[in-house]
Amino acid sequence: MWFKSWNQTKNNLPDQVAMDCLPRHIAIIMDGNGRWAQKRALPRSMGHRAGVEALRKIVKTCSKLGIEVLTVYAFSTENWSRPKDEVGILMKLLTEYLRKELEELHQNNVVIRAIGILNDLPQEAQHELEHAVERTKNNSGLVLNLALNYGGRSEIIDAVKKMSQDVLEGKQKIDDIDEKLFNEKLFTGGLPDPDLLIRTSGEMRLSNFLLWQLAYTEIMVVEEFWPDFGENSLIEAIKVYQKRDRRFGGIHTN
Ligand code: FPP
Repeated sequence: MWFKSWNQTKNNLPDQVAMDCLPRHIAIIMDGNGRWAQKRALPRSMGHRAGVEALRKIVKTCSKLGIEVLTVYAFSTENWSRPKDEVGILMKLLTEYLRKELEELHQNNVVIRAIGILNDLPQEAQHELEHAVERTKNNSGLVLNLALNYGGRSEIIDAVKKMSQDVLEGKQKIDDIDEKLFNEKLFTGGLPDPDLLIRTSGEMRLSNFLLWQLAYTEIMVVEEFWPDFGENSLIEAIKVYQKRDRRFGGIHTN
């Protein structure tokens, strides 16, 4: 099967974005699928389906721009408390997405990764995910990092356990533990921290997302529901990010 190379359409991107100071890592809380559907008197499942379409477009745009990492909050540890049908639909959409999009993602050099407690996902989803990660592991383009059954607090506890185990086994000295080492024990080990966090649909919360990694991230909350968030919305968010003054707790001396 032949897949269109996304780079062929690069020239269509608006030129207002400064290509020399792009965020390396963008993280997104894709919120508002349910409200998007409700506004249209549609079932919530249609909102999630439209959410997948929005994700497809944003992945493509990030890839065309040359963003290094895109982390999306696709399913939180708290999302299991939703009605069983809705959880089932979200898992089905994940499986479907991976099955349908894998080849195009692969042909466009995307690396698929996932963070979260993955072995609690349904077997089918785990299988598709493992296959997608394996298939794309040698690519060198955008890292699409799917947060699945993910919670920031449980990620930190998991890292603490790994560290403690290393100390117990004599592989690690307590005095040598620092932020860099701890970082490597997180699910996101090896990835840069997000430069920009976008949350759609207006809520001003982190919702247990990347609690450690977001320490110095620029946060942008937009009013649009996730299914309405398109290429132009992302470009606008990047433009706002590029006007921010990032001081990382310091001051400018000149
Ligand atoms: C929040 O909207 C969204 C989610 C809980 C799931 C996000 C999932 C997708 C975009 C689609 C599936 C993802 C993949 C990777 C295939 P909400 O349901 O909380 O909306 P509401 O706050 O308006 O009710």
